[in-house]
Amino acid sequence: MYVCLCKAVTDSQLDAAIESGLCSRKQLVQCFGVGGDCGKCNKDIAQILDRKNACR
Ligand code: FES
Repeated sequence: MYVCLCKAVTDSQLDAAIESGLCSRKQLVQCFGVGGDCGKCNKDIAQILDRKNACR
């Protein structure tokens, strides 16, 4: 499922990135460019980070 429509990034891509070591919203933004356009995905990104118990 797409989390960020603006950058066409899916939850599976974000899950894989977190599992491979990215652990903050800032890192996900730098890697995928998510959250910087319309910003509607920021809440979902935070939930994914929480679900994966990633640092923030
Ligand atoms: Fe992610 Fe617009 S949906 S910035």
